[in-house]
Amino acid sequence: MLKRILFVVSFVLLKGCLAETTDAYLLKTFSLPSDLNFMPTLGNGHLGYTIYGDAIFMNGVYNGPGGNSKRARIPNWLNISTELCDRFGCASAEDVEVNGTSYEMDLRNGYFRSLTAYKSLGITVEQRTYPHKYYNRALVYEVVASRRTSSSSRVNSPQFLKLTQHPGTSSNAFEFVVLNNGSSTSSGDFRTLRGRTEVLEFEKFQPDPQEIFILFSESLEQPLQLEWPAWQSELRHRIIITIDRQESVARKELEDVLQLDPKSFLQKHTDSWNSFWDREFSIELRGDDALELSQIVNAGIFYLVSSLPSLNTNQQNEPFYGLSPTGLGRGNLEADYQGHNFWDTEIWMLPIVTQFGFQYAKEVLDYRFRKLEGARYNANATGFKGARFPWESAYTGTEVTNPCCPEVAQQEIHISPDISFAMQKFFAQSEDYVWTCETAWPIAAEVAEFLVSRATCEEKQNLCHFLNIMGPDEDHPDVNDNVYTNAVAKIALEFAEWAGQMCGNTSTKLFEKWRQLSDRLVILKDDELNYHPQHLGYTLNTIVKQADTILLGFPLRFDTSSTHLNDLHIYANVTRESGPAMTWSMFAANYLGTSEDWRAHDYFERGYKSYVRPEFKVWSETPLGYEGSANFLTGIGGFLQALIFGYGGLDFGRDGNKTVMFRSQASMPPNVNEVHVNYIRYGDSKCRFIFSNLSSEMQCSMQSGPGFEMVQNQKRTMLGKSFNLTHVRGDSPQHISIVR
Ligand SMILES: *[C@@H]1O[C@H](CO)[C@@H](O)[C@H](O)[C@H]1NC(C)=O
Ligand SMILES: *[C@@H]1O[C@H](CO)[C@@H](O)[C@H](O)[C@H]1NC(C)=O
Ligand SMILES: *[C@@H]1O[C@H](CO)[C@@H](O)[C@H](O)[C@H]1NC(C)=O
Ligand SMILES: *[C@@H]1O[C@H](CO)[C@@H](O)[C@H](O)[C@H]1NC(C)=O
Ligand SMILES: *[C@@H]1O[C@H](CO)[C@@H](O)[C@H](O)[C@H]1NC(C)=O
Ligand SMILES: *[C@@H]1O[C@H](CO)[C@@H](O)[C@H](O)[C@H]1NC(C)=O
Ligand SMILES: *[C@@H]1O[C@H](CO)[C@@H](O)[C@H](O)[C@H]1NC(C)=O
Ligand SMILES: *[C@@H]1O[C@H](CO)[C@@H](O)[C@H](O)[C@H]1NC(C)=O
Ligand SMILES: *[C@@H]1O[C@H](CO)[C@@H](O)[C@H](O)[C@H]1NC(C)=O
Repeated sequence: MLKRILFVVSFVLLKGCLAETTDAYLLKTFSLPSDLNFMPTLGNGHLGYTIYGDAIFMNGVYNGPGGNSKRARIPNWLNISTELCDRFGCASAEDVEVNGTSYEMDLRNGYFRSLTAYKSLGITVEQRTYPHKYYNRALVYEVVASRRTSSSSRVNSPQFLKLTQHPGTSSNAFEFVVLNNGSSTSSGDFRTLRGRTEVLEFEKFQPDPQEIFILFSESLEQPLQLEWPAWQSELRHRIIITIDRQESVARKELEDVLQLDPKSFLQKHTDSWNSFWDREFSIELRGDDALELSQIVNAGIFYLVSSLPSLNTNQQNEPFYGLSPTGLGRGNLEADYQGHNFWDTEIWMLPIVTQFGFQYAKEVLDYRFRKLEGARYNANATGFKGARFPWESAYTGTEVTNPCCPEVAQQEIHISPDISFAMQKFFAQSEDYVWTCETAWPIAAEVAEFLVSRATCEEKQNLCHFLNIMGPDEDHPDVNDNVYTNAVAKIALEFAEWAGQMCGNTSTKLFEKWRQLSDRLVILKDDELNYHPQHLGYTLNTIVKQADTILLGFPLRFDTSSTHLNDLHIYANVTRESGPAMTWSMFAANYLGTSEDWRAHDYFERGYKSYVRPEFKVWSETPLGYEGSANFLTGIGGFLQALIFGYGGLDFGRDGNKTVMFRSQASMPPNVNEVHVNYIRYGDSKCRFIFSNLSSEMQCSMQSGPGFEMVQNQKRTMLGKSFNLTHVRGDSPQHISIVR
């Protein structure tokens, strides 16, 4: 039975109107990954899904109590396939040319498509799917079937296209009700579902289930058959699904979309992606053998941006619920970290997100600000003062750590000062004083209060400790004075004091209390061997899980002395083989800041080569051969930090009341001759950054303010409102500040 009959419409081939995608932005394969977890994950910050997967996820929508909360799975109704059929049956794999299907992830234009050539039939079928970047409530599937052969052979041509939905099993996260089955023929009558999540996360902070509305441009409850007369050379069809917390928003989005012709609709999406690459952020690697690394870099940026809100949208965005280690398009599985936020958000991903544009970083940190109430509750419920951010955070901002592992929630207290550190770093690059007083200071103050209440001080020795904690190295629970935790806590306390004074708070007693703790917190050091034992009682040669103490150099900038180089030597030898990707990236970034920068290259390659699956450059948390998460954005964050900050010899920090752009020696990853980064932002300037083995160049101009100044070799130079500064191999570091 034919549900819809289509008549001739002549369309311009969409390909013709899109900019050519260069190889560095086009991931193309003729065979899919054996594990479909490594298919691309697409998103627009509101909705996300993995190609051919069984789920669509929506920003902030979780189901399940406490530690069992996870992203609420919406069946993947967008997983649609098209077959060529006549009354005797449908074309099969045998009708497809050898290697006749190509699968392409077009990073520049932001869509996935497959192209299938049917040899005997002389027909090509193009299927494209993407979450729209501007109409961000909308998910799109479209198919274009074209006849390649002359009309004489059309006698045996297929008579219709059959579109079938493969959404996977029904979801136990929602109770779905069909509000409208879309069977009426009147326009504007869309199949509409209402979904309510089944189980609250924590009633005190979530009195009601979450509600979503899903509208379909047409119902695919039964496969859809589209008549295709032999004289018609091309048949095009698209299915749109819109989803929102409000029915009116989902409906308006669908109506707005259906008013546009398909060409303009796609163009709006690709324009939005192109504008990101052209105007906001891109990295170009030059070198004869740099193509694969370029693709990995571009894919990394693409997958990160896909989990961030679109900043220019048809309708106003919902508040953002943060970046989870495997992104918005995953979160149903334990391996997906259930879609929760961890320290990964601030320490691993945020420093790269900041480079995409300050607004993205603010969206991420605003999530913490909005969840301050949950963090206060968490502090109080565990017997402390101030705000204690949960190790895992989802809808309510209270602790949702998986019940498997209560000790990480109890002991990894570094998450709270990690957030303060990240805010300071964001200030150091953005110089946004208003944001610092409105958003960062209230968080930093309460984190400082938590740290004071959590510390144990010995009055006699004038020393303070954090007891029974766990650092980033989760192989060592219940330790005292993990050096990373104590160091990041000191930074957090000093930032709170500085921000308080800067923002006009006059509670000097408070600041005094925070400073005392900061001054008295123990930083363990073995003077004989000149290294930092990871925690009290750490013995040399004990295996550790991942980068922990070495983070004192980069990103903390806490210790960059000879002790740090010894830490690198020591911990490099005892870090687990199976450690997560960003561990090796951090060894690379840290060695690049030392006299032994040549050691970095092997670590840098190790940090991505066995973690990135070849077809679509999707990251795994663990190296090939180990079980781990897919679309591991945390690993991407560490890798891109090593490239931009490590190889680029670039960093940002706060020095008293000043922000500083630190520039030191740049070098090149293997097979790359030159790296171009557009743009690095500093204050209100967007800078061009180019580096090679010999030198690096930074060009910035400020829009407002008196100018820049540089300190190099203790010599201060005024630079005016713009500069073009070269740093040549062997030069001493340049400290560039904004004059205040
Ligand atoms: C999604 O569709 C593809 C065919 O296009 C199919 O191979 C895959 O199994 C489907 N996924 C689910 C979850 O059914
Ligand atoms: C099909 O593609 C694979 C690589 O994906 C290649 O090894 C093989 O030679 C191709 N076969 C033909 C007939 O082109
Ligand atoms: C759709 O809804 C209409 C009106 O409520 C009803 O008459 C019809 O039977 C329904 N169709 C299906 C397939 O459920
Ligand atoms: C937790 O909050 C309650 C109610 O405000 C208060 O009485 C109690 O002292 C708080 N606990 C701590 C450890 O601050
Ligand atoms: C920083 O600014 C604050 C107030 O804005 C001032 O009290 C303080 O002395 C300044 N610190 C330095 C090192 O200039
Ligand atoms: C300073 O900040 C603290 C912590 O947020 C707050 O309790 C206090 O009221 C503030 N004091 C002044 C004078 O602004
Ligand atoms: C690390 O291992 C290498 C190779 O086994 C060895 O040469 C080096 O001395 C070790 N370094 C430290 C600090 O243990
Ligand atoms: C960059 O310099 C290092 C050390 O001088 C060298 O090992 C490496 O091969 C150089 N890379 C390129 C691309 O020239
Ligand atoms: C910046 O300086 C470099 C080296 O001094 C020079 O090659 C380049 O053309 C300059 N760029 C601009 C925009 O002035």
